[in-house]
Amino acid sequence: MGTFVSLRMTANLAQSSNSRRVYVETYGCQMNLADSELIGGILNPEGYTFTGELAEADVVLLNTCAVRDNAETRIRGRLGLISAQKRVRPDLVVGVLGCMAERLREQFIEEEQLVDIIVGPDEYRKLPELLASAFGGEKGIAVRLSRVETYDDIEPLRTEGVSAWIAVMRGCDKFCTFCVVPFTRGRERSRPQESIVQEVRTLAGRGFREFTLLGQNVNSYRDGDRSFASLMKAVAAVDRSVRVRFTTSHPQDMSDELIEAIAVTENICKYIHLPVQSGSDRILSLMNRTYTAEQYMRLVEKIRRAIPGVSLTTDIISGFPTETEEDHQMTVALMREVQYDGAYTFIYSARERTRAWDMGDDVPAEVKSARVTGIVAMQQLISRELNRRLVGTVVPVLVEGPSKKSDMVFMGRTDTNKTVVFPHQREQAGDIVTITIDRANSATLFGHTGVAAQHAEGEAA
Ligand code: SAH
Ligand code: SF4
Ligand code: F3S
Repeated sequence: MGTFVSLRMTANLAQSSNSRRVYVETYGCQMNLADSELIGGILNPEGYTFTGELAEADVVLLNTCAVRDNAETRIRGRLGLISAQKRVRPDLVVGVLGCMAERLREQFIEEEQLVDIIVGPDEYRKLPELLASAFGGEKGIAVRLSRVETYDDIEPLRTEGVSAWIAVMRGCDKFCTFCVVPFTRGRERSRPQESIVQEVRTLAGRGFREFTLLGQNVNSYRDGDRSFASLMKAVAAVDRSVRVRFTTSHPQDMSDELIEAIAVTENICKYIHLPVQSGSDRILSLMNRTYTAEQYMRLVEKIRRAIPGVSLTTDIISGFPTETEEDHQMTVALMREVQYDGAYTFIYSARERTRAWDMGDDVPAEVKSARVTGIVAMQQLISRELNRRLVGTVVPVLVEGPSKKSDMVFMGRTDTNKTVVFPHQREQAGDIVTITIDRANSATLFGHTGVAAQHAEGEAA
């Protein structure tokens, strides 16, 4: 869950007397993106419509992330810009939702006069009520965390497309000592398997071709005696022509049953994001990660034996309290040994309320960034080498649509979650096409449709 994206919902399905327009900006992980769709599902039946233009909006909602200080700084900067709008349009309603709402609570309303409502991740059902009061000039705050809320009965407002996220569990009980998530999202709870399967059936019928089951700690999903592996198998059985993925998994909950389910089920993608965080046992123990580097390596070997060709990615934190050069080198060594297909790398950021907060933040900023820079450079070398080995192979690719650069060039993903770009012929978003890989860099595979060799305009790899 390391990617940070900003989603602007533009679906406009409501047909009701309420003509208010909502602009949503989303920060943080895929859970937050899924939550923004959920918020759409809560507000749309109340007549709200959505706009991608801040200037057109009657309501601005920022769905925020608190995982690192720089995420918060960016969001505070954005709030500053929005305040400028509010000065000229005093009836504009501004809301702070998500993880920062949980962390900063009243502070927002007191310090930042421009915020009208503050709503934590378990209180989104109250949004219509809070917005109605805000239009009457009343500020509102709802930040209680719940042990049971899964929003199971609410249908998220999804923009039609190829891929759909499905939140199957919420919260986290792992309490890694650096992490604010257990405080901002509360305790773990899962949705019933049956209702998830039903949702997938409906969405597959509507044309979605790929489902990503989401949770902060998705493989600790449980519905009575049914495990995450059972859920994955049930979802994959709904329609064998759709792809099923999941994120994020914790090494501790990577059961043999789940590995086997991925290995034997054709439409479960051969891709696992398995955050390691560090390669030093001393640091892993201070982080409360519950495994040693050796145990993690054995898990990786088991996965590789069971699922040949599996793609593995990870999260790494540099500069955790007391991390020495030697600890850092152990991380580098582990990465070299695993040969990850990709890594999300983070500079440690001390978060209030976490246990690591009390350990101090003793690694100097420049040392932290030097370590991250080294890790990024090494990962690029590994990714490039692994990707280059795919040159000449023929891979099935799920087409997502035109690439960012040109309508003539399309992009899609392999089952192993690698981005592939290729000249557009007749294929459409949602098709699975056969692509021959012609060249590769650390981030992208370049190919052409079909299995025949391509002769024209060769560009050096
Ligand atoms: N549940 C997910 C983590 C979500 S946060 C998981 O366990 O994989 C995504 C990543 O952010 C974490 O894996 C970690 O690498 C990073 N992260 C979390 N807290 C951080 C902090 N205080 N400083 C730097 N990176 C952090
Ligand atoms: Fe944070 Fe650890 Fe939970 Fe992931 S597993 S959300 S890193 S506490
Ligand atoms: Fe996600 Fe950020 Fe919250 S990573 S869970 S939005 S703190």
